[in-house]
Amino acid sequence: MTSVPTASQTGEGGPDGSDFPDHIAIIMDGNGRWAKARGFPRAVGHERGVEALRRTVEAAQDIGLRNLTVYSFSTENWRRPVAEVNALFGLLKAYVKRDLNRLASEGVRIRILGTREGLPEDILELVDRAEARTAKNSAFNLCIAFNYGGREEIVRAAQKLASDVADGRIEASEITEDRFTAALDTDGIPDPDIMIRTSGEFRLSNFLNWQAAYAELVFMDVLWPDFGKSHLLEAIEIYRSRERRFGGLASGAA
Ligand code: IPE
Ligand code: IPE
Ligand code: MG
Repeated sequence: MTSVPTASQTGEGGPDGSDFPDHIAIIMDGNGRWAKARGFPRAVGHERGVEALRRTVEAAQDIGLRNLTVYSFSTENWRRPVAEVNALFGLLKAYVKRDLNRLASEGVRIRILGTREGLPEDILELVDRAEARTAKNSAFNLCIAFNYGGREEIVRAAQKLASDVADGRIEASEITEDRFTAALDTDGIPDPDIMIRTSGEFRLSNFLNWQAAYAELVFMDVLWPDFGKSHLLEAIEIYRSRERRFGGLASGAA
């Protein structure tokens, strides 16, 4: 799979043919603070976070987006208390179990980004089932980054390419950006045009380090459990107001 200019780079864009994004990535942050502000345990914030995810996927489908990637558990989130980690695993399972049939029938392809390392067997089985069940769908790609770290993903890609070289399948000089891109978990998915982070934090926290090279960053104050269609539309409006130059000159500057 080679990397070609995305529709938004060529101006062919989305449903209305304009500068509509091909791919939006979201760092769903602020569940804990949402719960704390209401005197609830953090797990309640995560439960509400799943509802926000459901709303957001539906909104994204509604407006004609083709690719949505959400960050739901990072390789660093293992540093949290075991009970919280288990609650997050339970919520992923509940989400997939409850929504898989509907998403599959709506033409959604589900992909899980990240490493299998350390994940319990039942999660791995469910993930395999969801991916296999929706593998032939193409109306909408929903990528769930779970047990995901951008650096870990890059290291795994480097290992794959190194063994291709060691086994004589390719020459070291044939490792190009396109080949590297294809060795990542996001193979076949265009780079994100927009990277949203909720909860007012201004960092990427190891999310899509390679793929977000030219993403427009949109930081929003809303806590993830309160996120919905209006926020998604607002982020797209912000994106549309930006000028993307990809290293070139501003339009009209030449
Ligand atoms: C995002 O909310 C969910 C995960 C990181 C798994 P947080 O749990 O990080 O919420 P805050 O940042 O503590 O408010
Ligand atoms: C990033 O949020 C990970 C997810 C949203 C899954 P964190 O809450 O873990 O990030 P930091 O610790 O504030 O950087
Ligand atoms: Mg957080």
